[in-house]
Formats: sequence, C-alpha cells, structure tokens
Amino acid sequence: SCSNAPQEEPLAKVIDRGLKASTEQALLMAKELEQQDGRLPKSIKDGKLETSDCYWWCSGFFPGELWYLYENNPTPELKKYAGLFTERLEKVQHVTDNHDVGFMLYCSYGNGYRLTQNPAYKDVLVTGAGSLSTRFNPMIKAIRSWDFTNNGKWQYPVIIDNMMNLELLTWASKTTGDNRFHDIAVTHANTTMENHFRDDYSCYHVVSYDTITGKPHIKMTHQGYADESAWARGQAWAVYGYTACFRETNDSIFLNFAKDIADMIMDRVKTDDAIPYWDYDAPVTKETPRDVSAASVTASAMIELSTMVPDGQKYLDYAEKILKSLSSDAYLAKVGDNQGFILMHSVGSLPNGSEIDTPLNYADYYYLEALKRFMDLKGINYKDI
Ligand code: GLY
Repeated sequence: SCSNAPQEEPLAKVIDRGLKASTEQALLMAKELEQQDGRLPKSIKDGKLETSDCYWWCSGFFPGELWYLYENNPTPELKKYAGLFTERLEKVQHVTDNHDVGFMLYCSYGNGYRLTQNPAYKDVLVTGAGSLSTRFNPMIKAIRSWDFTNNGKWQYPVIIDNMMNLELLTWASKTTGDNRFHDIAVTHANTTMENHFRDDYSCYHVVSYDTITGKPHIKMTHQGYADESAWARGQAWAVYGYTACFRETNDSIFLNFAKDIADMIMDRVKTDDAIPYWDYDAPVTKETPRDVSAASVTASAMIELSTMVPDGQKYLDYAEKILKSLSSDAYLAKVGDNQGFILMHSVGSLPNGSEIDTPLNYADYYYLEALKRFMDLKGINYKDI
C-alpha cells in the first residue's frame, strides 16, 4: 500500500507484551514483600512502595493478579506466591465493619478457589459472604457500604462501588445452596438501580438513605469532582457491576441497564486513547490526571458485555482500544520501574489529596482480568504467543 499510516500492531503482540511485563513486575513485587510479614502492595508514596495490611480495601488485588498470571502460565513459582499472598487475607473473612469484603476476598480467595478447588479457601469465602450479609438492612433494601458518616451528614451511606461486592454473595449462594446471599445481592442491585442513577445513566457516588423512611435523603460525591459529576471510576464500577448482575441472574433488566451505562461511557469519554480523565466533568488542563483504573475496569466489563448482546462488537472494539492504550509506553511501566506495579497514572481520591496520578493495584488487577477475558474470547493461548 502507499499509505504512510503506521501499521497497527497485531493484538497478540500487544497481549504478549502486556503479560510478559506484568509477570516480571508481579514477581519483583512478590520477592520484595515475601519477607515483610503480612504486607500487601498498595501504591507509591513519596517515591517509595507503599504497603498495607490485610484490612485495606485493596488487599485482595495483588494476590488476584498472581492468580490470573498463574492461570495464563501455570508455573510453581506463580502458584507459590499467589497462595502466600492470598493467605495473608485470612482474617478478612470476619470483617463486618465495611462492605469491601467482596473485593478483598473474591479477587484473592475467589480466584484461588476457582483455580485450585482448595476447600479451605471455600470456607473463607463462605464465612466472608456471611460477614458481608450482616450489613444488609431489609427495610432499606441495601447493604451499608461505610460505617463512617462524613461528620454526621450520612445516615446510611451506599456507594456505587458496592456493586462490586455482590459477586461474592451470588457465588456463595451457588456454592452453599443458601439463596439468602443471592437475594441480598439482587435486592441491593435493584435499589441501587433505582436511586443511584441520573436520566443519562451516569451515577452518583454516594446515596445516603434515611433510616426511618428507607428513602434516599442525600446524593453526593466523595471522590469525584462534584456532587452532580460523573466520577470516572464510579461509572466503571457501574457498568462492571450490572454486567456481572446479568451473568449471575439472567435478568434482562440488568443487561439493558449495563448497555445503557456502557453507551453513556463511550459517549462521554472524549480522550483520543479512551483512557478517561479522573472525572468526566473535571475541567481539563494539562495537569488533569487520567484514571487508568477506571479504564481497566471498563475494558474488563465491556469484553464480557460484548458476549451478551447481538451488537456486542462495539463494546469489544472499545475494550480493545483501551487495552492497546494501556499496553503502550504511555501507561505500561518498564520492567524494574514503577515499584513493581504494572500500570501508571491512576487516581485514588483526588478531592482528599490521596493517590493522585499513581499506580494502584486495582488498575493492574482489572487490566490482567481484561487481558484474560480477551484471550479467552479470541481463543489466544499464552503458550502460543
Ligand atoms: N472503592 C473505593 C474506590 O473506588 O476508590
């Protein structure tokens, strides 16, 4: 051809580059933390690796990454580290003071159980589902996300992120035969669908319910730009959450809702590389940070969504675009850099001045999940690339 346009890199090469870099980075991280009792990677602070104990909401993502890497490439070393870091979370099964038990346990023990059928892992997950269920209020018809009340502003805060904790519950129902977990998850999803969303399918971050009437009394943000804005990660949690709800229930109400959210995301994200700014409504200057974590979560969700609808190709194309961007030098760290994290440029909580333009382990986790889902869909095997 006489075109001067750069050749598109074949997708298998993109995946290969992403997975090789990810494996090397995760092993560097694992070796760095192996001797640090109970610690798990969190982010970078003041140029140094920042770690957490098992009670930080992100504790399950690094073990989950190791399981995905092991699934692609089942080496004894990856399995050893996946197990070692997973088991650092054992005490989380008893956590009842916040909703993040789903993130923490399902990403770590959940993937571990899926791949090993270790019965001890199953017990931890079932106990964890019971702990999470204690936060459900049948009058409000939702799980309470946080105990913290924002100086008395909130009576019963539920955040959109809470949608991500429901898979632990549906899994627990399938595994134990106790439908109560499933019913809690579906009820929470319905309540959130009713109260968290605006007419354009963007969502609020926090909805607080009045504990007397059971109705929302406040809708606002905590980590976004403004109460009425579309915080990028919140939109990503939403599309992922309702896609998973359809998988778990086969109820087309959830599928249609996931599509509406996905269409809103594709319409609202205006960046050339499909990696959103940290909030869709944040004023854009040269300094405005992207949020890679929102992009990773969105890519993983859209790959799954693409398999559920006849016009799914548009979602797959969008996810592919995100994955290509994330696997480029703009976002994928060089091996040995970035303190062992895979991707750069995420935002934890900008309004609270925390984790701004840093790596975050959930960006890495959902990136690997998305690569895995993409490979499965396309029949690409790691050994062959
Ligand atoms: N679940 C907390 C966050 O998305 O930052």
